[in-house]
Amino acid sequence: MPEKVIIAKTSDIPPGESRAFPCRDRMIAVFHIDNQFYAMDDFCPHQGASLAGGWVHEGCVACPWHAWRFRLDDGTWLDNPKIKTDTFPVTIQNDDIYIELP
Ligand code: FES
Repeated sequence: MPEKVIIAKTSDIPPGESRAFPCRDRMIAVFHIDNQFYAMDDFCPHQGASLAGGWVHEGCVACPWHAWRFRLDDGTWLDNPKIKTDTFPVTIQNDDIYIELP
């Protein structure tokens, strides 16, 4: 059953930036882009770089190590859309960022 958990405060992530936060047994990358927040597994499925350290362009994050690109909204890997990394629905309540875990 899905569960909503607080991952961070909105003020923890300046506009245009991203941060990684621990959540249960993993790290979650949270992006603050164009007044929206996005959450995805921080662990790049290629060799494990932190996707929060990547750069964002046109709705995608490029991994800082080898530039694999993933869509922020659904985690699709642009070079092979059959592969995705986990993303998590985000809601904001007051100044808290909630993500929904499966
Ligand atoms: S570790 Fe992310 S593309 Fe290689």
